[in-house]
Amino acid sequence: MRKVSITVLLLTAVVLFQFCSSSKKKATVAAKEITYENSIGPIIQTSCAPCHIEGKGNKKPLSSYTAAKDNIDDMITRIQKNPDDHEFMPKMHPKLSDSTITAFVDWKKTGLKEK
Ligand code: HEC
Repeated sequence: MRKVSITVLLLTAVVLFQFCSSSKKKATVAAKEITYENSIGPIIQTSCAPCHIEGKGNKKPLSSYTAAKDNIDDMITRIQKNPDDHEFMPKMHPKLSDSTITAFVDWKKTGLKEK
């Protein structure tokens, strides 16, 4: 009788353990989301803000979350252009990497989140 109840206890423990570990796996699958703070902001600061800053010339300032959000379509169009095109951005710099361009596109797709 005692042996049986120990076996039942062990089986229950094994089943519970498997349940726990599988639910943990699911929780870690979620991919890192693209936000202004974790990716787009720093890219703009490095590659665009030196020229696109408030009060500098007649270019649009792009160095804030609101400015980036409001100009996302324009920015995507410009960074996807061929460097020979006169509208290409970042002006006078090499083309951004494919993964950086994709980050802008994905940021728009996922709702232009700030954080
Ligand atoms: C070397 C300076 C320079 C850099 C760096 C630069 N731009 Fe520009 N950008 C300009 C100038 C000058 C104009 C205005 C002339 C034109 O439309 O081409 C402009 C225009 C634009 C416009 C059209 C709206 C406007 O301000 O007239 C967009 C959108 C834009 N840039 C996006 C970007 C993005 C995104 C980056 C970074 C990936 C970037 N630019 C980097 C100089 C720069």
